[in-house]
Amino acid sequence: MEKIYLDNNATTPVRKEVLEVMFDLYRGVPGNPSSIHFFGRQARGYVDEARRKVASTIGAEPSEIIFTGGGTEADNLAIQGIAFSRQEKGNHIITQATEHNAVLHVCRFLEEQGFEVTYLPVSREGLVDPAEVERSIRPETILITVMTANNETGVIQPVEEIGELARVHRVPFHTDAIQALGKIPFSVQALKPDLASFSAHKVYGPKGVGVLYIRSGTRVRPLVYGGHHEGGNRPGTENVAGIVGFGRACELAIDELETEGERLRLLRDRLRSGILEKIPNVKRNGAPDLLLPNTLNMSFEFVEGEGILLGLETEGIAASTGSACTSDEPEPSHVLSAMGVPGVLAQGSIRFSLGRENTRKEIDYTITILAGVVRRLREISPFHPEEGS
Ligand SMILES: Cc1ncc(COP(=O)(O)O)c(C=O)c1O
Repeated sequence: MEKIYLDNNATTPVRKEVLEVMFDLYRGVPGNPSSIHFFGRQARGYVDEARRKVASTIGAEPSEIIFTGGGTEADNLAIQGIAFSRQEKGNHIITQATEHNAVLHVCRFLEEQGFEVTYLPVSREGLVDPAEVERSIRPETILITVMTANNETGVIQPVEEIGELARVHRVPFHTDAIQALGKIPFSVQALKPDLASFSAHKVYGPKGVGVLYIRSGTRVRPLVYGGHHEGGNRPGTENVAGIVGFGRACELAIDELETEGERLRLLRDRLRSGILEKIPNVKRNGAPDLLLPNTLNMSFEFVEGEGILLGLETEGIAASTGSACTSDEPEPSHVLSAMGVPGVLAQGSIRFSLGRENTRKEIDYTITILAGVVRRLREISPFHPEEGS
């Protein structure tokens, strides 16, 4: 059996159609988009076209799309950009406990700079309560940032309600929509955020390219200073091939959103029922009806997630215990901890995130292998009530 990749929330393989346009760009377009000669104008044309494609994917105007060096940078630009441009209006930011570190660590940095941050709790299912968001708003609140969908559990937050509350209270609203893009419908027309972050490598595009959507009229302070690129919001010569790759990836993702979403949902549900049928003492994490179609997070009692991953890896299957950015940290996932999953159970949790290359055969194989791995680990586990010694 070929290797099986079930870690698509960490990153996705660049798809052939995307590689082709990027390769053509590298080979045939030498220009800097800021140059005024023919080569420069040609490169500018490609960047503008990609900007239009990304904009139309999320229902934005091209002028509202700022290309960045990835999702982390987009989150930083949104949060620091709003905080530092609005600090004369107030110093309070609202976020929630299961955000990606690209949001949480920016908030911690801002606390060191004198800002106050409210980290809202989530329910056992991983959901933020919009009423709590509203109760936390103060006259000095300058930003609300809540992710659209969680990278570890796939839980989809009630961002429409939160965005509506933010509008009523006239507080700018940012959403990290990095995991949502290409998996569920996402439109800035429907959600009306002031800012939204995206990353190309989660939608079969290249790594190191992101987008920050900034609603027209919203002012952010740049993170770096230099030329007038990206309206002065993100100076630096554009990553032309990466941007063009992102544009193509968005186009393809939108074309396939419904069919691929449904296919992945069925595969994911097959994986979930297979696991529940074959393996006792397993718990699902996350609101079952409010999940990304490709994501499944499960806790296996009496075993360590690391052990399961190693066992799977030996059989050619790659999954993860949580976010790729925190996979070298020994502590249990901050996402599962915030959901009240006890430490030992959180340590025995695995995220399976499916993608367009996965097949039914791979899922069935994974279920069989996983059942064997967990059984063997439990046989030697000192925590298992009937096994170990
Ligand atoms: C929800 C979320 N936010 C931010 C990021 C960071 O994006 P990037 O890897 O493009 O910097 C990720 C990637 O793992 C993510 O899943």
